[in-house]
Amino acid sequence: MKKIIIGIETSCDDTCVGILEITDKIKILSNLKINQNNLHAKYGGIVPEVAARSHINRLPIIFQEALDLAKITIRDVDLLSYTKTPGLLGSLLIGENFVKGLACQNDIPILGVNHLQAHSLIALIEQPITYPFLSLIISGGHTELWQFNSVNNYEILEKTTDDAIGELFDKVGRCMGLPFPAGTNIELLAQSTKVILPITVPKTLSFSGLKTKFIRLLEEDKQEPAIIANSLQKVVSQLLVNVLKKHTVDKNISIVVGGGVAANQYIKNSLKENFKNIFFPIQELCTDNGIMIAWCGHLLQHIE
Ligand code: KG4
Ligand code: ZN
Repeated sequence: MKKIIIGIETSCDDTCVGILEITDKIKILSNLKINQNNLHAKYGGIVPEVAARSHINRLPIIFQEALDLAKITIRDVDLLSYTKTPGLLGSLLIGENFVKGLACQNDIPILGVNHLQAHSLIALIEQPITYPFLSLIISGGHTELWQFNSVNNYEILEKTTDDAIGELFDKVGRCMGLPFPAGTNIELLAQSTKVILPITVPKTLSFSGLKTKFIRLLEEDKQEPAIIANSLQKVVSQLLVNVLKKHTVDKNISIVVGGGVAANQYIKNSLKENFKNIFFPIQELCTDNGIMIAWCGHLLQHIE
């Protein structure tokens, strides 16, 4: 039987709509995203009020575009899945109210999902992974390690004690004059040097000390941005490896990685060198997207 699921993501600054077709296969019919980078660039970070207003204007447009691209109408849709939490309250409410309006008008079931659970489970769209498994969520707003015992039974094993890993990339990038978010540009910059500064790896999952350290090296010691970028990738990779090693006494346990920073090839390679059963979503499903919300809705729909 064919099932069409729409996923709507408005938890932060990206307005995303993804459409999945589930038969005996899984097919992505559309995966659209409008980022608000230009709206927030002059503030150097996300302004919640600006983000919410932008979702109001853009969501209905991108929703219709996603339907058109998928060559379906709202009457073909079997489930509307949306991000319920965590995120910016105003932005989340825009997504939720939009979905509730559609559900009332068209009599379609809805399901609110956890954004971090969706980042974690999206790796399973490509390959089945046996429970229990670990999930490393590395994004602009979150840095957490979860253990999934089943699809909806999970516990948090570790969490950053201060900033998220993506914030480290973005804040250091801002001091280099890079546009927000800076992760991709830092990765590109790092490729132009082989020099790595000896930086002490924090003992716990923490990024704020590193942020201060790198900004000081940049502004006071006038270190080259490329060397900073390369050293930053190296030290955070080592920190993630150390944290994962603490929780992988069972060497066969699988690890999935999700969130925007999982798109970083250097980090991906170092994690792959250290852990054999480690899985990453494809690049466009690492950063925020509607498909991960649709997929999470699909997995949770018939679970109590
Ligand atoms: O998952 P995401 O799209 O949004 C949140 O849920 O936060 O992650 C965005 C974060 C930003 O901090 C961005 O700089 C970072 O992911 N990012 C990267 C790369 N691509 C995106 N960080 C490092 N290397 C990348 N290639
Ligand atoms: Zn995210």
